[in-house]
Amino acid sequence: MSYRVGYFVGSLSSTSINRILAKAVIRVAPDDLEFTEIPIRDLPLYSQDYDADFPPEARALKDAIAAADAVLFVTPEYNRSIPGALKNAIDWASRPWGQNSFDHIPAAVIGASIGQIGTAVAQQSLRGVLSFCNARQMTAPEAYIHFSADVFGEDGSVSNADTEQFLRTFMSEFRDHVQRVLTVLPR
Ligand code: FNR
Repeated sequence: MSYRVGYFVGSLSSTSINRILAKAVIRVAPDDLEFTEIPIRDLPLYSQDYDADFPPEARALKDAIAAADAVLFVTPEYNRSIPGALKNAIDWASRPWGQNSFDHIPAAVIGASIGQIGTAVAQQSLRGVLSFCNARQMTAPEAYIHFSADVFGEDGSVSNADTEQFLRTFMSEFRDHVQRVLTVLPR
């Protein structure tokens, strides 16, 4: 049995270090996790005016989450919070009222920053949002990645053995978390 993981990259940057981190965690993830990116780039800004008739980009977002067993958020920190593009995607997915795509979904959060605290504040903010959306979050281990181009290759390779093992453990714990949640709350 394998688990389908839909992952969000919270950055729209063509040189995103969080996209590199996403590649790195996919490389070291257990074999029974299958990854598909859930794109957020082309979503319009959410408004309740759309609730009666979602545009194709938003329907695709909700379909992608529905097709996933779990979601993984790989996000930068912007001004000590969540990037607007990611928050916009979450707002879309949480609506219309009564059709919240994140209800009971197994979830995990990780992020990389060039700053020393490695997206810790953004992750706390994201965790609050996901709590309200009723996602089943992995609470430990936490992963605040201080990004260095000396350690992370653009292809997601990790040259520091301790960092690679840390990411491997994080993803192994995520896999176990997904299995535990789905045992109680099958999708
Ligand atoms: C940042 N950056 C940043 N870093 C951080 O550690 N804490 C922060 O609050 C912020 N705030 C912030 C705001 C904005 C608008 C930008 C553009 C950047 C720096 C950030 O860590 C760096 O740009 C990363 O490269 C962003 O991740 P991606 O987009 O490369 O994945």
